Amino acid sequence: LNELDQLNGITVENAAKDNLKNKMAKRRVIIAPDPRLNTVAEPIKTIDESIRRLISDMFEIMQAAKGAGLAATQIGINKRLFIMDLSSYIEEEIKPYVIINPEITYCSEETWIAEEGCLSFPEIKKISITRPENIKMKYLDEKGEQKEMQASGWLARCIQHETDHINGITMVHYVSKIKTDMISKKLMKLKKNNEV
Ligand code: NI
Repeated sequence: LNELDQLNGITVENAAKDNLKNKMAKRRVIIAPDPRLNTVAEPIKTIDESIRRLISDMFEIMQAAKGAGLAATQIGINKRLFIMDLSSYIEEEIKPYVIINPEITYCSEETWIAEEGCLSFPEIKKISITRPENIKMKYLDEKGEQKEMQASGWLARCIQHETDHINGITMVHYVSKIKTDMISKKLMKLKKNNEV
């Protein structure tokens, strides 16, 4: 989007606020490489007020950064929790999800390849990753209710990407060593220059 597009239809003041929010959100998301992104997160025992606040903070951060998914690991919180909102990415109507203590119980043998992005890799546009096409998952929702879900396509892909995050795995796990080193170097350089 160029600046004109961004301003189209909204007041300049709102656009400035939006821009600021976006920047703040990006600052709070941990950018790779960072050892915190390689931490295996702990299960959540009780869904209390602090967890509810965390969930609402995460939605704010994800929306401002225009992401489709965000794991607690990505903001330095060591808990098995992630959120997803694919409504602007897939055509069918889909609600935002809060996923707590997920357990993927089934992965299909059929796989498909697609390009994924990640808020922790702002400078890497997309990485092609092969993943199972259909999955089943058990999890708790934000009310602590035990749920089971069957997912396919982009929803299944997003679930796998975010589950990786809470297991300390990022997208670079799926690319060759040479490419990983290249990406790390590029991000380190950008970090030094304070560009991200
Ligand atoms: Ni990600």
